[in-house]
Amino acid sequence: MLKPSTLKELEKIVGRDNLFTDAEELIVYSYDATRLESLPGAVVRPATAQEVSAILILANRERFPIVPRGAGTGMSGGSVPVRGGVVLSFERMNRIVEIDVRNRMAVVEPGVITGDLQAEVEGKGLFYPPDPASHQFCTLGGNVAECAGGLRAVKYGVTRDYILGLEVVLPTGEIIETGTRTMKSVAGYDLTRLIVGSEGTLGVVTKIIVKLLPLPESIQTLSAFFPDVKGAAQAVSLIAASAIIPRALELIDGGALRAVENYLKQDISGGSGAMLLAEVDGPLSVSASEIAILERICREAGAVTVKRAADRNEQDRLWKIRRSISPALYTMKPRKINEDIVVPPSRVPDIIAEIQEIAKRYGLLIVNFGHAGDGNIHVNILIEEEERPNAMKAAKEVFAAVLGMKGSISGEHGIGLSKAPYLPMEVGEQALEAMKKIKRALDPNNILNPGKIFVDNE
Ligand code: MLT
Ligand code: ZN
Repeated sequence: MLKPSTLKELEKIVGRDNLFTDAEELIVYSYDATRLESLPGAVVRPATAQEVSAILILANRERFPIVPRGAGTGMSGGSVPVRGGVVLSFERMNRIVEIDVRNRMAVVEPGVITGDLQAEVEGKGLFYPPDPASHQFCTLGGNVAECAGGLRAVKYGVTRDYILGLEVVLPTGEIIETGTRTMKSVAGYDLTRLIVGSEGTLGVVTKIIVKLLPLPESIQTLSAFFPDVKGAAQAVSLIAASAIIPRALELIDGGALRAVENYLKQDISGGSGAMLLAEVDGPLSVSASEIAILERICREAGAVTVKRAADRNEQDRLWKIRRSISPALYTMKPRKINEDIVVPPSRVPDIIAEIQEIAKRYGLLIVNFGHAGDGNIHVNILIEEEERPNAMKAAKEVFAAVLGMKGSISGEHGIGLSKAPYLPMEVGEQALEAMKKIKRALDPNNILNPGKIFVDNE
């Protein structure tokens, strides 16, 4: 519970219009895409790093939790204020401060929508590759906090690969700058990398310097339909071992196809058991020859239909289908447990087979889709609430199988609340303790996003 005097001080920092305490307003900031929810005591919308700093200093003095929040599209509960306190919302810090075309970089505030930055730099012949499925809604601050991946990670990597530097307010209120505006720097510890993916537990990001690439000259997109998911998974592993790195290679299994077909009211696949969506880019001569090779590999792996997208409209239609899967799955059952496991790409067929086996054993509906090209599969366990305990056991078995294949329990969604109990399975007690020591050193009063990453978050 926040004291009236604390609310007064918050109001002094951000102004009356930027402090919310009414129940209807608080509900809006109480959940993310996991649909886990918990009400904050208040929401503030700071406009500057100085305001963020003043809020954090107050939180340390009064010992209340601070939960940074972008657009609430996170998939692991990272922005859910599980211990109440104050949500810091970045709606007002949403400026693209600078686009430096000659040096191919941009400086943005954390509330900028990822898709807006992509569109803005593309207008200048530049390219910001990280591309979460929610790019039209999610923010760069949230992407940095979770180290978001997305559809193009298979060729271009994840958010961390495009962050040159940050302005960060430390949990105790100091404002620091990390990294540089140069392509290289080895001056001291890499605090940028420490903060990226720290899920709002080590600092509040108030400015982001991103690296940009030249916009590829051409893009070609392919859809391939298979009788079953085994063939599609086999094609993924063959493509991963080929000389081609597609810019996207997405797998959609039969269950996910049915869900998205119902949701969009379209026959997408003619009843196929799985779909692959592949995209290549680069100079026209390169993309043309690469797409032909991918077509051949898909046919060899058993695809019954392989189609190239004829134009931009067709490409957009295919990607809309792909980006609609996540919301579509909520129409199948009231709850979904969405994992984002990652295995070496050659093991995609093995993990899919293992998950099917686990689903059968537990009598659960499990749907798989996602960024198979880099081994990152969204394993969605679709349940009624009463099936949850069974589903949690199945999820733990999936994690064990993934770790047995030298994979990871989270490729891009982060640990947050939902995967905190399983983090020790992957990193081990000593690495976990090292992480907790860093947390304690930077945030001695545990005010920043408590309850996330570590079960006890000490
Ligand atoms: C996606 O790739 O669609 C997102 O990561 C969301 C999800 O996993 O459902
Ligand atoms: Zn994803």
